[in-house]
Amino acid sequence: MKIAMIGTGYVGLVTGAGFSEFGHSVVCVDKDANKIAMLIDGIMPIFEPGLNSIVAANTKAGRLSFTADLNAAVPGADAIFIAVGTPSRRDDGHADLTDVLDTAAEIARALTGYTVIVTKSTVPVGTSRKIEEIIRSIRPELEFDVVSNPEFLREGSAIGDFRHPDRVVVGCDSERAREVLREIYRPHHHVTETPVIFTTRETSELIKYASNAFLATKITFINEMADICEKVGGDVKDVARGMGLDRRIGRDFLNAGPGYGGSCFPKDTLALLKTSQDVGAPSHIVETVVAINAARKIAMAKRIEADFGGVNGKTVAVLGLTFKPDTDDMRDAPSLVIVPYLQSRGARIQAYDPRGGKEAHERLNLDICKTAEEALSDADGVVILTEWKEFQAFDLTIMKRLLMRPLVVDLRNIYSPEQMAAAGFAYFSIGRPS
Ligand code: UGA
Repeated sequence: MKIAMIGTGYVGLVTGAGFSEFGHSVVCVDKDANKIAMLIDGIMPIFEPGLNSIVAANTKAGRLSFTADLNAAVPGADAIFIAVGTPSRRDDGHADLTDVLDTAAEIARALTGYTVIVTKSTVPVGTSRKIEEIIRSIRPELEFDVVSNPEFLREGSAIGDFRHPDRVVVGCDSERAREVLREIYRPHHHVTETPVIFTTRETSELIKYASNAFLATKITFINEMADICEKVGGDVKDVARGMGLDRRIGRDFLNAGPGYGGSCFPKDTLALLKTSQDVGAPSHIVETVVAINAARKIAMAKRIEADFGGVNGKTVAVLGLTFKPDTDDMRDAPSLVIVPYLQSRGARIQAYDPRGGKEAHERLNLDICKTAEEALSDADGVVILTEWKEFQAFDLTIMKRLLMRPLVVDLRNIYSPEQMAAAGFAYFSIGRPS
């Protein structure tokens, strides 16, 4: 199949590279000519484990190419994926569809024959239909179909997620388009036996939002259980394990922490909430989840302050700034709330992150340490904000020697309370006896 992928952001780049790895011929398009020039030179605009080598191998094999010229990529494509951004609109929280709809119009003008246009971007229910109307109004004579095919990749493990997804969802109202999508996902279906689910377009669009909102709800639920554990002397890890062994519940996404962040959950829960309110079926659960998660980040900052016995005039080491490990993404990271709060309370911050340093420096206006050791040096205690592997196995003797006071506030539960007590630390974690 010949595929054009419009948008070389996170989803577009990983998906485009992934399709080329399965043998399809893919051209990735972005209006940002600098980005395209970088990609042609083999430089990745994002950090994602494994992406570099897939892009290099498939570019070399001639199956993957990059261009800033949409008009050159569209003619002759069997399918054109729209994978441009849908940020939250500042004023009302709705997904901003400007780029998606502009792209649809641009595609319409460049089409030369029957093509399937696929919305990969996370778009509100009804958007695929809207895209169809736009293309139809520009090209009334043309045969085409618009399909919804949401993405379920996680940052940091996107390559594995692409190769072995739990499911592929296709929202499609035409048999001709269904055949094209079947062919595109044939390797997934036949080789890895991934279930490919065909639904209507509206259902498919909703599956994406419902999935993210449900996962956000799971996290928020276990965060509340952690708060209860702290009051009653329970251990939230054991609660999660005990609950998770029930197959109807599942253990995944029951890790208590400082609240979810990233480019998806905060934006998608808000967008689903707005849609639900607009259509007259307001989701009170999603509304509550959004509010609790926002409140949690500031509550965690206050908690750190309390665990430190006040931070005024103290040096606080912070390990991990990104919203999760294995990414350089800082979007809606809890650190963006927690670090400024601690500073406002008079703390001096010594922060380190294995990948997010550059962006953190810009967003927090903070000099970022080059190593974890540097961040820990002579600090009055350390806060773990992201569960990077290199912190998990950090030598506790060295940690103790570097810190001025052996105090650890672990918002990701990466150490065991027993081990920390034995090593002589004052140790505070989430939802576990300290
Ligand atoms: C999420 C979904 O997991 C993907 O399926 C989806 O495709 C993607 O959004 C998207 O819509 O594009 P992602 O944002 O990359 O993926 O990251 P997650 O691994 O889901 O983590 C999101 C946030 O939840 C992080 O801040 C993480 O620390 C937090 N989290 C996750 C917890 O606090 N506890 C958990 O148990 C799991």
